[in-house]
Amino acid sequence: KIGDALQNLKTAKLFPDYRKHIPSIRNMEMDDDDVIICAFAKSGTHWLWEMASMLRSGKADYHGKEKTSAMFEFIPGEVLRVSPKPRIYNTHFAPQCLPKQAFDKKCKILFLQRNPKDVLVSLLPFLQGYNFIDSTIKWEEFISKYMELEVESSLLNWFYYTRQWYEFLKEGHDNIYCLSYEDMKDDPVTEISKLAKFLEVEANSDLVKDIAVKCSFQNMKQAASSKQETFAINNKELAKKITNFTYRKGEVGDWKNYFTVAVNEKFNARSITSDNDIVTIDLGGTPIQCL
Ligand code: A3P
Repeated sequence: KIGDALQNLKTAKLFPDYRKHIPSIRNMEMDDDDVIICAFAKSGTHWLWEMASMLRSGKADYHGKEKTSAMFEFIPGEVLRVSPKPRIYNTHFAPQCLPKQAFDKKCKILFLQRNPKDVLVSLLPFLQGYNFIDSTIKWEEFISKYMELEVESSLLNWFYYTRQWYEFLKEGHDNIYCLSYEDMKDDPVTEISKLAKFLEVEANSDLVKDIAVKCSFQNMKQAASSKQETFAINNKELAKKITNFTYRKGEVGDWKNYFTVAVNEKFNARSITSDNDIVTIDLGGTPIQCL
């Protein structure tokens, strides 16, 4: 009953307190130099978090342990508000749940996207790793039900999340910078330099190169496994398990090992909208139409 399980999973189970936090996040006070990283789960949030944190601190040292305590889903606005500066928040929230002041002030928002097919391949082990869905569920069953997912959850439903964000981006917000996982993978040095420019931080070429090396998939995985840099968790077994699905493969195009031709066609064609407004995402390959 994976379909029911997905529909019923709702976001409450993924992030138990997140609903409780939305009002305080919406109304929290922001400073001009606050940064918010926004991405659908499994789009490379940890990766961008490290890059941005290293740029902001001017040192290629890992900041992974601080990520969870800077996440809107976990921490109320009044606590985040008094956390040490410079602040980089991160969230999987839809844009309408972000702090209102983020748009009145000069806060910088990073919107990260990844090919949704790779996102979904990455999402299944994540959901199973946290026991959100049964570990016996096979990929084929998961993807076929996922494509029918209707639940209006920005934390679970990529189609819904992307739709919300694209509507929002159409309004035109000059404090939002869009990045893609694929570009970061293709040329990390260039992407880090561009990010430094948007964040208005000084970063010479040595620092940019050091950050690119420190933020390679292998190095981040190694740091997370050996020094537990990423997870502030005392339970070693659990930390190991989480590390393994948080740093699973780190590749572009792994979806080709999972999507059959039929599933791929169905995925590309998903364009069910109430107003016939089809969002097309050009990720460099076949444009993907989605809700
Ligand atoms: P895969 O499961 O495809 O390997 P998030 O941080 O948003 O949870 O995203 C996790 C995904 O980003 C995982 O994808 C993970 O391997 C990948 N990832 C994490 N760090 C990375 C890095 N330094 N370089 C490339 N991919 C990375």
